[in-house]
Amino acid sequence: MEIRLDDVSLTLGGKRVLENLFCTFPSRKISILWGPSGAGKSTVLRLLNRLLDPTAGVIYLDDKPSKLWPVLELRQKVGLICQLPYMFAGTVLDNLAYGPALRGNKGDFHVRGLELLRMVGLEEEFLLRPAEQLSVGQKQRVNIARTLANEPEVLLLDEPTSALDEKASEQILSLLGDLHAALGLTMVMVTHAKEQAQKLADRVVMLRSGKLEAEGGRELLA
Ligand SMILES: Nc1ncnc2c1ncn2[C@@H]1O[C@H](COP(=O)(O)OP(=O)(O)OP(=O)(O)O)[C@@H](O)[C@H]1O
Ligand SMILES: [Mg+2]
Repeated sequence: MEIRLDDVSLTLGGKRVLENLFCTFPSRKISILWGPSGAGKSTVLRLLNRLLDPTAGVIYLDDKPSKLWPVLELRQKVGLICQLPYMFAGTVLDNLAYGPALRGNKGDFHVRGLELLRMVGLEEEFLLRPAEQLSVGQKQRVNIARTLANEPEVLLLDEPTSALDEKASEQILSLLGDLHAALGLTMVMVTHAKEQAQKLADRVVMLRSGKLEAEGGRELLA
């Protein structure tokens, strides 16, 4: 799914948070959203799955303005992953079946659950473990699998590895690269892991103080 911001501005609590943004996140590519703290990166992700709407301008998702997308359909197609993986009460299976159950799929999720675990590199035995007992890295894998259970076209990732140690962080970023290649997902990721971002990035969008500073290829991160 191609995502395009057309002259997007956002004012929150009287503060101009985003100003006249024009940029494109191409379909089936990995885009890295880069910039200093307070630049507006998380805010852009929140606009992309309609946790917020722009004050002015239009966000196009596959050429359809975001405001015309039914919110639930949009959030199924555009999944958001944050830095702290929040687990629902119950087992890993309960967590994975949550989204599909919301959409009326109450059948046995066991087989699909195992498939999702494989996709994120977790052993089968995790399926029936209480989700709360996992390490943060394992929770982040379950979090990604839980989002993939909704069969999204887009993954928005807001510093998905900033709560992890270096090794777990590298593993998750490499997993995201593999998932992108296997599933052809459109990804928009905020991360401060420069070296890995450079390897993964097809596109780079740089923000500063709510404005577009630069847009281009991975060489922008060099
Ligand atoms: N509800 C709000 N009301 C007023 N200002 C807000 C609100 N939410 C965010 N902001 C402001 O918007 C700006 C951008 O915030 P945002 O969280 O998008 O930055 P960021 O680039 O994600 O930063 P970080 O790297 O620290 O996560 C900040 O100046 C922040 O204070
Ligand atoms: Mg942020």
